[in-house]
Formats: sequence, structure tokens, C-alpha cells
Amino acid sequence: MRESRVGRIRKAVIPAAGMGTRLLPATKALPKELLPLIDVPVIQLAVDDAVQSGMDDVLVIVSRGKELLADHFDRQPDLEALLAARGKTAALEAVRSTGAGAALHYTRQPEPKGLGHAILMARHHVGSDPFAVMLPDDVMLGPRPILAQLEDCWEPGRSVVAVMPVPRAEAFRYGIVTPAGEKRGAAFPVEDIVEKPAVSEVSGDMAWAVMGRYLLDADMFGVLEHVAPGAGGEIQLTDGLRAMAHAGRLTAVAYEGERFDVGDKLGYIKAVISYGLYRPDFAPDLKRYLADLAQRGTF
Ligand code: UTP
Repeated sequence: MRESRVGRIRKAVIPAAGMGTRLLPATKALPKELLPLIDVPVIQLAVDDAVQSGMDDVLVIVSRGKELLADHFDRQPDLEALLAARGKTAALEAVRSTGAGAALHYTRQPEPKGLGHAILMARHHVGSDPFAVMLPDDVMLGPRPILAQLEDCWEPGRSVVAVMPVPRAEAFRYGIVTPAGEKRGAAFPVEDIVEKPAVSEVSGDMAWAVMGRYLLDADMFGVLEHVAPGAGGEIQLTDGLRAMAHAGRLTAVAYEGERFDVGDKLGYIKAVISYGLYRPDFAPDLKRYLADLAQRGTF
């Protein structure tokens, strides 16, 4: 399944310093990024997506108590030797391949001051290169790695956001973009972006909602530095994206695939089931089980 390509954008940043309060008590000691979809922690899906999109440098923004994230991607010589001695080759390959294909780096966000602030922590590492940002609690399942889809529509100097159409009544949950011009293929220029608008602010039956995958120009750091903190002293990425949109430098790309918010309890349940249906080793049995539940009138 692994498809590798050499991309023009080589660096990805994964902000993973949030508190995960919506999933307490599960996230009291366990970082929410390590919550698994069956046997794969959600952060590993994000790293795999980066690697399959041609990125070989991944910086994870962590906070105190998230040391297990680095442990997950580290080698485990004792465990590997034991699995090798017992001939458990599939398990050995699964253990060895975590994070394979990318150099993983970690830096800390000292306080949870928002997504924009977390991205500012990547400034020194990223330098003047364009870079990807992946929110690990947004799980994207689709026919192609999502960052590769975004990169196809990226031009130097511009930033790109992944969007999906959502019904107007759901717009209050997302950042919503207003197109500045015609859609060409999957992409269109963005005129404005509003975080969680009221229904009255949305025109039309559908709205373009921003998902947690971005390609950002390095100028975003200078922009975020000047963003005024909002509620709770948080620096919002949306404010930086709005500045880019107003400067005529933001593109939206309609994502072909499914998206799940695993930072939300129901979203997590949906993601586990959908990922099971997506996995060839589980799909047949899981389909039978779901059909059986339906037949028994469970739903
Ligand atoms: P969320 O708002 O979904 O994450 O942030 P959260 O704050 O962990 O969740 P709840 O609402 O308390 O349950 C989106 C992404 O931004 C990161 C999070 O780790 C998540 O990947 N983030 C958020 C940071 O890295 N730092 C922050 O200060 C805030």
C-alpha cells in the first residue's frame, strides 16, 4: 500500500501539544495522539501520510506529559530481538516500521496557547521552507495521501488548506472559507475564512469547511507573530490564514476522501469502524458483524 514520492515540500509539522479535554478521562495519562484506530495510533497515520506524500522531515510539537509520543517512534531493541527469536515476523515488521521513511524531531510548546502558537514553535526548525501542517486528531481516509493532493495544487508563495463541503447547519463546527473565484479542478482561491460562523453568516446550502491539513508558506510565521491572542490567550491559525487570504495568497483544495475528528467521542467511534472497513484484514468480518447487528434490529 505504501506509495512514496519525492515532493517539493519536505517538512511536515504535527501539533500535538493540546490537552485533549474532550476525551477525558482516556487522555488523562495517555496522549490523545496515541489513541489507536484498531492497532495504529492516530499520529502514526499522520506520519505515514507525510511519508507517502514525499515528506521526510517531521517535527512533532509536544507538551509536558507527551513523552510517550517519542517512545512510540523510537526503536525497541529488546522487543525486536524477542519477536525475531519467536519468529513473529509480522509483529516485528509492525514494530520496526513505525515512523520509517522520515526523520522525526520533537520540540515543546511550553503552554497550550493555541494552534497558531504551537505552529510558531516550529519556526526555527522550518526556517524559510514551505511546510505542511497535519492535525493528528483529524484522520483522513482517501484514495490518495492528502498532502500529495494539496501539493498538486500548491504554488510557491501561496498557502493551501484542505476543505470539504458540509451542510450549512454544520458550519458552526468548522473554519469556513469563502471562494474568491472559480474552482479549477479541485482548487479555488480563497477570499476569506471565518472560524465557526453562526448559521446566519453562511450563505447557500453547503459551506466549504477547513480540515486539519495545510501547506504553509514560511511567511506564516511572521503573520502569526502579529496575530492578537483571542479567547483564553490563544493564537489561532485561522487568523493567520485570513491574513493570507486577504493578501490573495490562499488556495483551498477540495479533499477527495473521508475525514473523522477523533478528538471527539462520536468521531472516534466512527473512525474506528470506518478504518476497520477500510482495512482488508478486517473488512469482511466487520461487515458481517455490522450486518448481523442491523438484522437483529440493534439499529
Ligand atoms: P484541538 O482543540 O482539537 O485539541 O486542537 P485539544 O485542545 O487537544 O482538544 P480539546 O478541545 O481539549 O479536546 C487541534 C490541534 O492543535 C493542537 C492539538 O494537539 C490538536 O492536534 N494544539 C492545540 C496544540 O498543539 N497546542 C495548543 O495550544 C492547542
